[in-house]
Amino acid sequence: MSLRNHAFAALAVVVAALFGAPHAHAAGKVCKLEINANDAMQFDKKELDVAGDCTEVTLTLNHTGKLPASAMGHNWVLTKTADVTAVANAGMAAGLAANYLPAGDARIIAATKIIGGGQTTSVTFPTSKLAKGGDYTFFCSFPGHYVIMKGVLKFG
Ligand code: CO
Repeated sequence: MSLRNHAFAALAVVVAALFGAPHAHAAGKVCKLEINANDAMQFDKKELDVAGDCTEVTLTLNHTGKLPASAMGHNWVLTKTADVTAVANAGMAAGLAANYLPAGDARIIAATKIIGGGQTTSVTFPTSKLAKGGDYTFFCSFPGHYVIMKGVLKFG
């Protein structure tokens, strides 16, 4: 191999490192979901659907109310349906500063922070954390809210 070829090979490695593999990037599909929450302790959707070819999901939560997070805070938390009660109870104990979420809890597939009226937040997570046809529930972990503020997320 000549010195020139070495130089080209090194340049190719640098370019690949800077810009990534273009074909791998093109294969990804980020799907967007949006949900609103209000001062009446309600989400405006009971079901969210994620197509089976989505590789990532970005969920945007809008708090359309006016009450502060301390009184009517909302977040969007996703777990397996079987884990909702346990995660919600652990979250209640964690407190507002921890967004009413137990730290480092592997049962939490995705979660936003707690927001108050007029605020918006979002979370992006890979669908590799989901099984097609799995039983998933989204809910708000503010104390007492999950009983009403919940719905089903379907993937596949
Ligand atoms: Co709430």
